[in-house]
Amino acid sequence: MVIVRRPFLLPVLLCMSFASCSEPSPAVDSESPTSPRGGAPAYSSLESFVADYWIRPIPAQGPAPADWPEFEASLRPEACGTCHTQKLADWSTTIHADAYSAGLSGQLVNWEQSSPETVRSCLVCHAPLAEQSAWTGGADGTLYPNPTFDRDLRDRGITCAACHLRGRRRYGPLLRDGSTGPSPEDAPHDGVTRTEFFSDSRFCAGCHQFEFPAPEGNSIQNTYEEWRISRWADEGVSCQDCHMPDRRHLWRGIHDPEMVLSALRIEWIDGPGVGIRIRNSGAGHHFPTYVTPEVVVEITQLGAQRTALETRPTSWLIARKVENRNGVWVELSDTRIAVDEASAFEVEVLPGAEFARATISVRPDAVYSSVFAQFLVGSLPDTSRVLLSEAAGTAGNSPFVIFDETVPIQR
Ligand code: HEC
Ligand code: HEC
Ligand code: HEC
Ligand code: HEC
Ligand code: HEC
Repeated sequence: MVIVRRPFLLPVLLCMSFASCSEPSPAVDSESPTSPRGGAPAYSSLESFVADYWIRPIPAQGPAPADWPEFEASLRPEACGTCHTQKLADWSTTIHADAYSAGLSGQLVNWEQSSPETVRSCLVCHAPLAEQSAWTGGADGTLYPNPTFDRDLRDRGITCAACHLRGRRRYGPLLRDGSTGPSPEDAPHDGVTRTEFFSDSRFCAGCHQFEFPAPEGNSIQNTYEEWRISRWADEGVSCQDCHMPDRRHLWRGIHDPEMVLSALRIEWIDGPGVGIRIRNSGAGHHFPTYVTPEVVVEITQLGAQRTALETRPTSWLIARKVENRNGVWVELSDTRIAVDEASAFEVEVLPGAEFARATISVRPDAVYSSVFAQFLVGSLPDTSRVLLSEAAGTAGNSPFVIFDETVPIQR
């Protein structure tokens, strides 16, 4: 069967990752750029890595050398993990390993036959290997069933192979002493090509900086740019330095309480009002960087018996709010905290107030929670409903409190 490529017909609401609305240039599957044996690696300089390494879908790996045992030839994370045990253990706990999530697949099952091009546009970030896609594209703009499609591999999300393999050849960072090191002939998987690209923030940008027609000139997901103009870039502190400390494959972010706390310096304000000041001292980009989380700050004033003086605390949102109006992104508000900046959350002291309580809560999936809920209100195929209910449950359970302190009010 041949399906003719057609333009996006998706209603705006379905562009829930915001990325779907502006899928970059049409993907044309090509041959592997290189092979593990014979000939030099295809990338001759850092610039060529930046330009070509993240062409997606990542071209099919091609056949492995005949003398490789199955566990060297396999693209499965567990196969890599037979030797790289710590990396597999770390990766398995991460959001990258769950990137083909219920929230994503619950939507994609509806589009598998009707709009394979849309499915591919999501997979380029969530499951980017050619072998993870049911369809493959020709230069003439048609899509064909993909002979190398591996459904189980697709379900594994962003795998070791997606970041480390091109044409079967292993790529990795320079040795810790900065050298390319030896790569013995008899090494497993015929050794490795080491490059500084792996320790460069541009390695992460392909999936974490979305090019968008965006409000006020800033992309809707602007993480790399936020980092690039910050002190961290000047000081040579990369995404990897914070998100992969000691090369651990952890990628903790807004879903992790300890990571979030490490971004912030929180202090009580010295009057005349009462409240807290929050400084972004440890995130390499705005806090938070994406448009999907919300951080809520609340101040409550208490009497001598520690009962609240008002029915409701005063509250603020730290978030960037955008909305898609007829295909155009509009920025509604942006109260995120830029690198090294601080925001004060302060109220006037009420008569009779003796104590003040401040809390900071994080809702990592605030926007997705409400989008999943909207899907579930509508009519859906059963498979989709099961997956999106699961996603709604997970998103609903992700909020946590990172700060809750009560102090006497100084007058
Ligand atoms: C049979 C065991 C084995 C398997 C299976 C294996 N590796 Fe390796 N890997 C090694 C060894 C040993 C080295 C060090 C090789 C060298 O120094 O040239 C290495 C090196 C690497 C490096 C470079 C690390 C460094 O020291 O600079 C990367 C990246 C890598 N492997 C990725 C992978 C991925 C991804 C897979 C799965 C698709 C995989 N490996 C499967 C044994 C294995
Ligand atoms: C340019 C890369 C990129 C593309 C393309 C992309 N996403 Fe995402 N997606 C991300 C990133 C990064 C996150 C995590 C940050 C966030 O919350 O936005 C994410 C998060 C999500 C989430 C929330 C987390 C989860 O898994 O439940 C859903 C759902 C989602 N994307 C669906 C989609 C769908 C559907 C498409 C295609 C229409 C798509 N994405 C295309 C990068 C991408
Ligand atoms: C999202 C991309 C990504 C994924 C997925 C990924 N890695 Fe890596 N890996 C990297 C980056 C980037 C580095 C270099 C980090 C640095 O320079 O600080 C790295 C480094 C390594 C190294 C060299 C580490 C060292 O200590 O010198 C090995 C080996 C490795 N990865 C194996 C794996 C294996 C095995 C998996 C799957 C279980 C995996 N990687 C998944 C991006 C990835
Ligand atoms: C192939 C695309 C891709 C690459 C390359 C990639 N990421 Fe991701 N990353 C994603 C997607 C997609 C998600 C969200 C998955 C989901 O929730 O479904 C994500 C999630 C994350 C998260 C978790 C955010 C949270 O909500 O807590 C962090 C942190 C992160 N990535 C950092 C990095 C860093 C650092 C690098 C570079 C070493 C990198 N990523 C490379 C696609 C990618
Ligand atoms: C100085 C350390 C540091 C650097 C550098 C850094 N981050 Fe972060 N990042 C954090 C901390 C801390 C958090 C948790 C707080 C937050 O969400 O902002 C975080 C959160 C995230 C998240 C979670 C989503 C969200 O809305 O906040 C993603 C995705 C992410 N970082 C990607 C990146 C990428 C990509 C780069 C490089 C361009 C990068 N980070 C550079 C420290 C850093």
